[in-house]
Amino acid sequence: MTGETGDQAREQAVEAALARLTLDDKARLLAGQDRWTLPALPKIGLASLVMSDGPIGVRGVRWTADDPSVALPSPTALAATWDPELAHRAGVLLAQEARRKGVHVLLAPTVNLHRSPLGGRHFEAYSEDPYLTGRIGTGYVAGVQSGGIGTTVKHFVANDAETDRFTVDNLVDARALRELYLAPFEAIVAGARPWGIMTAYNSVNGTTMTEHAPLVNGVLRGEWGFDGINVSDWSAARDTVAALEGGLDIAMPGPDTVYGEALARAVRDGRVEEATLDAAVRNVLRLAARVGILDGAEPVVAEPPAHLDGRALAHEIARRSFVLVRNEGAALPLRPGATVALIGAAARDARVLGGGSATVFPDRIVSPLDGLTAALPEGALTYALGADPNEELSLADRGFTLRALCRDAAGTVLGTGSAPGGDIKWTDVDLPEGVTHDNLHSVELAGTFTPRESGTHTFGIKGLGAFTLAVAGTTYFDGVQSAAKNDPFAAFFGAPEPHAQVELTADESVEVSLTHVVVTPEDTTATSILFALAHQEPRRDPDELIAEAAEAARGADTAVVVVATTDRVESEGFDRTDLRLPGRQDDLVRAVAAANPNTVVVVNSGSPVELPWREEVAAVLLSWFPGQEGGAALADVLTGAEEPGGRLPTTWGSLADAPVTQVVPENGQLAYSEGVFIGYRAWEKAGRTPVYAFGHGLGYTDWAYESVAVEGATVRVRLRNTGERAGHEIVQVYLAPAGPEAAGGPERPARWLAGFAGVSAGPGETVEVAVTLPARAFEVWDETSGGWARVKGSYEIAAGRSIVDRRVTTAITV
Ligand code: BGC
Repeated sequence: MTGETGDQAREQAVEAALARLTLDDKARLLAGQDRWTLPALPKIGLASLVMSDGPIGVRGVRWTADDPSVALPSPTALAATWDPELAHRAGVLLAQEARRKGVHVLLAPTVNLHRSPLGGRHFEAYSEDPYLTGRIGTGYVAGVQSGGIGTTVKHFVANDAETDRFTVDNLVDARALRELYLAPFEAIVAGARPWGIMTAYNSVNGTTMTEHAPLVNGVLRGEWGFDGINVSDWSAARDTVAALEGGLDIAMPGPDTVYGEALARAVRDGRVEEATLDAAVRNVLRLAARVGILDGAEPVVAEPPAHLDGRALAHEIARRSFVLVRNEGAALPLRPGATVALIGAAARDARVLGGGSATVFPDRIVSPLDGLTAALPEGALTYALGADPNEELSLADRGFTLRALCRDAAGTVLGTGSAPGGDIKWTDVDLPEGVTHDNLHSVELAGTFTPRESGTHTFGIKGLGAFTLAVAGTTYFDGVQSAAKNDPFAAFFGAPEPHAQVELTADESVEVSLTHVVVTPEDTTATSILFALAHQEPRRDPDELIAEAAEAARGADTAVVVVATTDRVESEGFDRTDLRLPGRQDDLVRAVAAANPNTVVVVNSGSPVELPWREEVAAVLLSWFPGQEGGAALADVLTGAEEPGGRLPTTWGSLADAPVTQVVPENGQLAYSEGVFIGYRAWEKAGRTPVYAFGHGLGYTDWAYESVAVEGATVRVRLRNTGERAGHEIVQVYLAPAGPEAAGGPERPARWLAGFAGVSAGPGETVEVAVTLPARAFEVWDETSGGWARVKGSYEIAAGRSIVDRRVTTAITV
């Protein structure tokens, strides 16, 4: 039931349920009972609330490939579509996936900003621009919730990098907080009424976010009227009383949390008011009512929306997200009948998603090689590896068939489970049938490996503790692997250790076995089993590989090189140290470009990398982490069946030129000393020209911008498709202070994105698009009055194709 009547009825059900709970029930309800769920309270008809990651798919509560998930393109890709309606559909699909998996709340979207290009997790956030982030996030949240599933907009706030993320204290001034980092949260609260947020690990201005009463109770709930739940990021809550008083409703994961029994005790001891606890419980019950797991309350959505085809949507988002940043001599689309040399490790082993909690296991992955093989006539395609960017061992996912065998101390098999990629990430809920942490002694990953190449294969282990590794009947390691650094997530994000080098023959299967002896620390009931079998293909001479690729390129009409980052470069858990493509990929592109002037480079990365050879190649297409259907979408775009629809949601430039780069705290603090100048705002201020500007992206047709006119808050732009095929354009509207008045007052960026709209037109057709400018576009945060202030004066309004390619302008005075 939607609308006010529904809200009122749910509030009554919430109050009635609250009145029947004891102090212990209430304290228990606010603490995870395991990694992903809250306890059920049958006496009030409350079922267990289930949460699950994440932005591009719904993993479900188990880290397993047994129940695959649709994997959509990563958030930077979604933002590159500049299409809130498409984000809405992504949300509807994810709600459908959540329902299928019994999940009530999706731990997404991530709306932190691309402050420094070194942020390792930027693939999981949308943009450097708060307005674009807010629009995409609003569409996404509204979509998920229209399917009756909750969201947790995250990570509130200023979790814009990963270095020391548990402890870093980000020093952010009030203007930067309001105008940049809080802005997407504010827009989503206003536009989509999210049912949840997630508070970040980090501190802001001295207070950790799970205890930040001024930002949570003051700004989020007080000023903005947010009425959803506030869940901690996983293991972020530190202090019972401070967290509750700081507005934190749910401490995850469990069972060891600062809430539960500790919270009941704090109330009994008079350290915190029961009324404060009740307020948090109300929020949780309201969420339960909304998603339909509280008896007596009608869910917001009784009938889920019509079924969506996950593969089709993943495909559509991917092709509409690809950004063609360079296309000399109309190198793309490929000419019909052209022969293609496809080159690159990522062309065969596609990197479709970013690592960490965003990981899901799709039922299939279409690589560029798969996609082009299907799209091109027989005999038109050749493939060469060229360069392998995986300098370290990676997950054992290609050629491996592995099961996990769980044994007790006597060696009896208690149960077996799946082991996607040889990567075990088990909490209580993930243990196979018949296995408990009390009876489990060891887990063996056992199965076969069938190499696709002959040569020396390397096997290794990711994780901490006692392991035995055997390949083809020989034991190569029997010992203990310990952490280099006391990092609680080392087993999750650390590098695998090599332990065995084995000569193998292509297509001849061998037995592999990795056994891990599980030790449960005595002081905790929360146990996770985290380890993985890792593998690396035979290392060939890199120069030889490049020469082979150049040779293949020479023999084809077009060379398509797919370059990529790896999960050791872009992932949750750490930042980047440079923006270079790993391994010999730059050398590879140069060699291929020298061999064939018709070289197209596809960049498979979630966020900016340096492209030092860009002037030497004919075309550059950014494909982000394109999701499970990425290769099929790529084939459509390369062959011209579809045009690439994306525009840059973030500036691409070299690290040396980037104005804001710092992600490493000093003495525990990271000063956002650039204030409101990040992304294009900073590039313009520094007077530096990036490689590819914010908003840039080419299609397969051309556009002439004919006029721009302003009427109240509406900007009307007329434009004509001057090319020979139908196309879709993203009309971008930028605002720049023009007159002396608007230029006075607080220092503001030279210009900023104030609105945008997508429009389609056939060849020769003229279309008009209306873009509404939000009042906020003319406002700054005034620290003295503690409120928004409109900056009066005259402004230039420019409409165009990127922040630097402005085609028509007009002026207004406000
Ligand atoms: C991440 C969150 C995620 C959570 C649960 C954390 O480490 O920062 O984004 O939702 O884990 O997996």
